[in-house]
Amino acid sequence: MKTILIVGIGAGNPEHLTVQAINALNRADVLFVPDKGAGKGDLAALRRDIIARYVTNPASRTVGYDVPKRDAASPDYGAGVQDWHDDLASIFKGLLDDMPEHGAAAFLVWGDPSLYDSTIRIVGKLRGQYAVEIVPGITSIQALTASHGIALNRIGEPVHITTGRKLDDVKEDTVVMLDGQTAFMQADPELDIFWGAYLGTADEITISGRLGAVREQIVEARKAARERHGWIMDTYLLRKPD
Ligand SMILES: C[S@@+](CC[C@H](N)C(=O)[O-])C[C@H]1O[C@@H](n2cnc3c(N)ncnc32)[C@H](O)[C@@H]1O
Repeated sequence: MKTILIVGIGAGNPEHLTVQAINALNRADVLFVPDKGAGKGDLAALRRDIIARYVTNPASRTVGYDVPKRDAASPDYGAGVQDWHDDLASIFKGLLDDMPEHGAAAFLVWGDPSLYDSTIRIVGKLRGQYAVEIVPGITSIQALTASHGIALNRIGEPVHITTGRKLDDVKEDTVVMLDGQTAFMQADPELDIFWGAYLGTADEITISGRLGAVREQIVEARKAARERHGWIMDTYLLRKPD
């Protein structure tokens, strides 16, 4: 049986890779790297840098693949995502057909594969045909808290994780990811925000403070950085002041 290794590579710093991740990459006959899409040039470059740094298996090869665009115009968000996953599952199947029987293939997944990433679900659509192993990675949330020098949770308190699209009334400490629409602008200005973009990379930007006092600064920093790079990935924690 062929093996699929779903390997978390951390959130932007090549030194985020764990020893387990490096060993998994070196077991793979084929390393799959997504090549296209917004920001994907830089992100593919980081994956290729990780391969160049850590993969010493001379028999392995790297194969790029194009990621189809999700139909954002679909009126049914869930159905649109399902169609997109089906398309990706057929692309994955095609890639895996080309590898040797009993071989291993690795997907290099940004951050950790369990957090706002579809690879586990897409590979799940090919159930039974492959052995699957998952290697955890450092998430952008950990990169965010490390850069701000804070603990994620307050003593004994919960933390909610959501997306910009779903950010509503902040009832408890809340981490927001995938926020293309600066949803924090609608949040209570008396909250504290710990914001970070390109975390773990040489381009990292962090801003923190009372939301009402720093939100315009974040919007400006986001806009300028987006113009500079052509894409942005940012994450933030919102919580009531201590
Ligand atoms: C598709 S999710 C992938 C999350 C990833 N699996 C993880 O463990 O962090 C992409 C979102 O993760 C966050 N993100 C990932 N890497 C980041 C980074 N280096 N700096 C800031 N945010 C990041 C952003 O909110 C981005 O919109």
